[in-house]
Amino acid sequence: MSEAERAGRDAVWIEKYRPQRLEDIAGHEAIVNRVREYVANDDLSHMLFAGPAGTGKTTTAIAIARELYGDDWEEYFLELNASDERGIDVVRDRVKSFARTSFGGHNYRLIFLDEADALTSDAQAALRRTMEQFSDNVRFILSCNYSSQIIDPIQSRCAVFRFAQLADDALREQISHIAAEESIEVTEDGLDALVYVAGGDMRKAINGLQAAAAAGVTVDEDAVFEITATARPEIIEAMVENALDGDFTAARATLDRLLVDEGIAGGDVLDQLHRSVWQFDLDDEAAVHLLDRIGEADYRITEGASERIQLEALLAAVALDY
Ligand SMILES: Nc1ncnc2c1ncn2[C@@H]1O[C@H](COP(=O)(O)OP(=O)(O)OP(=O)(O)O)[C@@H](O)[C@H]1O
Ligand SMILES: [Mg+2]
Repeated sequence: MSEAERAGRDAVWIEKYRPQRLEDIAGHEAIVNRVREYVANDDLSHMLFAGPAGTGKTTTAIAIARELYGDDWEEYFLELNASDERGIDVVRDRVKSFARTSFGGHNYRLIFLDEADALTSDAQAALRRTMEQFSDNVRFILSCNYSSQIIDPIQSRCAVFRFAQLADDALREQISHIAAEESIEVTEDGLDALVYVAGGDMRKAINGLQAAAAAGVTVDEDAVFEITATARPEIIEAMVENALDGDFTAARATLDRLLVDEGIAGGDVLDQLHRSVWQFDLDDEAAVHLLDRIGEADYRITEGASERIQLEALLAAVALDY
């Protein structure tokens, strides 16, 4: 995406408030410090950014380009997405022509390859050769969610940076900052809800804020949970407690309400269950048991099983065993 395109989407807050400088990136102090060393020495190795969505991988790559190349950064920065169906050959061709265009006084250019874990091992092997071939004048920044999906020969050629989910404080601070800039009133419980909904994903937090702000005057808990189609944590907890008490009928009724009346996706309910297990007032044995069931349901859903049936089966198993 070009800078003009990014700026043209000003109305989208995730772009409008994307940090431009390394020092403005929330959380990730250790990563930012390491990166800054590289930049200060103008000595970049290939890099691998691994971590969950919305934590700042693309943002950091662009901030590096800005630090290195200033306002002309776009001339020296090529963003590719590995999951575009065009395949590794196209990636290689684009790398080639980018690497061969003339240089304006910089030793190397940057190629940011998003979703590198979408490449097959064969494609990654080809990518590795391309990285070697052009290593004189190109540095790669690969981005992925799971570094385990990246073949060893690539990992060993990269400095690996692990982007963790953003801490609640970092999310809170950035949300408050944006709300102030946009003159949006956000209540304390609204902030808590946004942080909860985000689950460490800054993009989710900001999009949640923008959607809730568009819907009403004040952003509070109700607005956030409704607009993001997220179940309130206390309802999830009540559902689990019903099941633990052996009251399957009540637990199932709550599940129905979430899925049918509130239109919440089954996968999201499972995800919320997973995130909240330790916040519920459960003894260790119950929590472990529940986690085990969550893992089972998650796997089956990934394999194509019905979300609803799996969630009901989970509640039934919990109700039966206790
Ligand atoms: N650490 C951060 N500090 C401040 N804002 C952030 C941070 N991480 C993400 N954001 C915000 O979220 C948006 C999306 O972040 P970004 O594109 O960097 O995520 P990503 O890690 O590349 O995610 P994906 O894995 O989905 O590509 C940014 O435009 C920015 O507004
Ligand atoms: Mg990204």
